[in-house]
Amino acid sequence: MIKTTVKTENLFQHKTPCLILFCPQEKKPDGELNPIDQALGGSIAVAFKDKRFEGKPNQTLLLNSRGAMKSDNVLLVGIGKAKEVTEENIRQASGIAAKTAESANFKKISFYLPEGELEKLLTTDRKKSSDETARAVAEGSYLALYHFDLYKNKDETPSRIDEITLLTNSKAALAKLRLACEHAAKVADGVCLTRDLILQPSNTLTPTFLADTAKKVAAKHKIACKILLAKDMKKLGMGSLLGVSKGSHEPPAFIILEYKGGKKNDAPIVIVGKGVTFDTGGISLKPAANMDEMKKDMSGGAVTLGTLQVVASLKLPINVVGLIPAVENMPGGSAIKPGDILTSMSGKTIEVLNTDAEGRLILADALSYAARFKPKTVIDLATLTGAVIVALGSFAAGVLGTDDELIGDLIAAGTLTGEKLWELPLWDEHDKETKSDIADLKNIASAGVGAGTTMGAAFLKPFAGDQPWAHIDIAGTSWTGSDKAYTPKGASGFGVRLLVHYLEQQAHGKKTKSAKKHG
Ligand code: BES
Ligand code: ZN
Ligand code: ZN
Repeated sequence: MIKTTVKTENLFQHKTPCLILFCPQEKKPDGELNPIDQALGGSIAVAFKDKRFEGKPNQTLLLNSRGAMKSDNVLLVGIGKAKEVTEENIRQASGIAAKTAESANFKKISFYLPEGELEKLLTTDRKKSSDETARAVAEGSYLALYHFDLYKNKDETPSRIDEITLLTNSKAALAKLRLACEHAAKVADGVCLTRDLILQPSNTLTPTFLADTAKKVAAKHKIACKILLAKDMKKLGMGSLLGVSKGSHEPPAFIILEYKGGKKNDAPIVIVGKGVTFDTGGISLKPAANMDEMKKDMSGGAVTLGTLQVVASLKLPINVVGLIPAVENMPGGSAIKPGDILTSMSGKTIEVLNTDAEGRLILADALSYAARFKPKTVIDLATLTGAVIVALGSFAAGVLGTDDELIGDLIAAGTLTGEKLWELPLWDEHDKETKSDIADLKNIASAGVGAGTTMGAAFLKPFAGDQPWAHIDIAGTSWTGSDKAYTPKGASGFGVRLLVHYLEQQAHGKKTKSAKKHG
């Protein structure tokens, strides 16, 4: 656990191994940097002149203060051109700075946040939200300093930062900074819970383990939690979900989380997350290369649990339900085979033409179950298709659905939180391609139809029915193959921050300015 403190002190009097300063892109050091440059004998100005450091986004410059100030070292981090700075720039710069300091073996770091100064640099429409700047700093650094140490022997773990200080020049700003830190810590804890679950190998994280974890999280945060077992699912007629589970020795679990922060009769927002704890492809077996990564196929479920934890710890005045259908997709002797027909909870029959398109089969029953809550909106998240990686890489998740307002709100929340969404089409033409010759639906379209991500959503659409619904395909974004500014290599936790922001807006009846489609 990283300790966080907030402090008002003169910049030169503050004692820390590493003082971090944000720096806009300039020709030479300016403003607050001038006296520091003078104290450091002009070495910042020289770095600018030599173009070693110009304040470009995420550039860093580490200088030893040689006793000229109480801080042992000064770390400058670039945030790009003034007036073009966004919260995402600040989040990224904070992450890069924290990681740079950690690599340099510092145990404690301090971020200098002079009251109002950073906000002056933000793009015009975001200027008013100064507490959100502090949140971005805390969030970016917490998330960057994430480690998954569970399976490492202690003597192998390198040095870690254990304390972050937010330093300001105004006593009046302290309370605001403290609140910002608390908010950021709650959000980051949810993201890190999600990352932990995704990184857990499937021999530990089975559907039962996921259900037990959900119960523990729920008990701690006063969320109601109910687990449906196979026999309960049979009674409900969840033949589609149970079909996927048949090839595995691991029993399935259907996790139901209910957070009631709103008025008793307020319609809830239902979040549904794909919880395939390992996807071998089933009888339509996947190739061996990178199959290990398929432990991440429960990312949607992990995001659902992480989001509910944050919503409950922030005590948002809203009702939220989380549904996680959890199964393992294995090619055992009892597994479903291509050509098999399943009867879903809705009564619709499904011809399974590819057992590797299993996510949509479990989500079908979960979306039917969602209708029981008479939801205001339903949002599902799933590592559903490799096709979304072809379309959008790991730069954005695909969003599709039946409700333009909901999709717009989610895109706006994604832009602000740096978890980008890009809408893909979902048209009547696509619906036709989901019809089976001998059952109501087939789980993959005919060869040559293409539009893989849309076809996944088109299959889900009849199960969502007339509930205002959006589907987010996170197959490309739930994992990063290389270190990013505040997302270390591995599980990203993508989705938690965007959902929390969306839910905060809903809870407070606010609307995020609709997002620009580009950028
Ligand atoms: N879990 C996979 C999708 C996936 C691929 C997630 C890569 C993360 C990274 C999903 O169950 C799947 O196998 N989808 C198939 C669908 C196809 C058979 C229509 C796919 O994308 O190939
Ligand atoms: Zn699959
Ligand atoms: Zn899958």
